[in-house]
Amino acid sequence: MIVHQKDAYGYLLVKEDSTGAGYKGLINNHDRVVKIKLAGEMAAAIAHEIRNPMTTVRGLLQLLEKEKACPGFEERLNLMLQELDRANSVISEVLLLAPTKVTDLERKILNDILEDLLPTIQSEAAESGKKVIFEPGIIPYLLLNEQEIAKLIRNLVRNGLEAMSAGGVLKLKTFIDDQDIVLAVQDQGKGIKMGLLDMLGTPFFTTKEQGTGLGLAVSYSIAARHNATIKVETGPQGTTFFVRFKHHP
Ligand SMILES: Nc1ncnc2c1ncn2[C@@H]1O[C@H](COP(=O)(O)OP(=O)(O)OP(=O)(O)O)[C@@H](O)[C@H]1O
Ligand SMILES: [Mg+2]
Repeated sequence: MIVHQKDAYGYLLVKEDSTGAGYKGLINNHDRVVKIKLAGEMAAAIAHEIRNPMTTVRGLLQLLEKEKACPGFEERLNLMLQELDRANSVISEVLLLAPTKVTDLERKILNDILEDLLPTIQSEAAESGKKVIFEPGIIPYLLLNEQEIAKLIRNLVRNGLEAMSAGGVLKLKTFIDDQDIVLAVQDQGKGIKMGLLDMLGTPFFTTKEQGTGLGLAVSYSIAARHNATIKVETGPQGTTFFVRFKHHP
């Protein structure tokens, strides 16, 4: 972690998640990648074993519901089904941490993926009185797995929106910097406490009551599969996540 003194009132924290040498953060970054890989491998190994009995239980619960076999228990049956679905979606997320090779790489322009996601993102933001602005730069094609990159964007956007109160504006930008293609997700939240920065990307690390703590772990994992790096700048004015892709002409 590199800490820059920005001015007398604020601070700017820069956290590197790169394969470049020379930063103290590299050691932590390596640990994080190892942790994420381990979580992914373990999850992949046990997912089927857990999913099969869950599917059976879900089917039986659904049958009880359909047959109206438990009068007076409809709500509780419904809750059990919802909880099973939640457990299932956590397993799906953890499986995304597996260090599998990216398949389905296509020549895509990041801007097109962002344009496709924008209407949904904007209406989600509007529900809580926030705005999303997209400032596309002129950028070349990249080799991307569209589904994975859309997931990464949604995760960063959701965190940005969750960090802001009503009236906040979330900015999405794409630009070229030093021959790399960069996606920036900038919020106007309260920032991330210095002590928590090293925890970012650790599976199941969350400070939110309703959080699972998988959003960033999955995003770091997707970025790594695309040879991209994620850097965070945070301070009292807000947080910006930079996803930096290498351009291969
Ligand atoms: N833009 C942000 N501003 C402030 N804090 C953030 C931001 N992004 C991430 N964080 C912090 O990092 C933690 C981990 O984020 P992550 O997305 O991995 O999990 P989560 O948002 O808590 O849960 P979920 O699994 O639903 O995404 C958050 O709980 C929050 O404390
Ligand atoms: Mg999140």
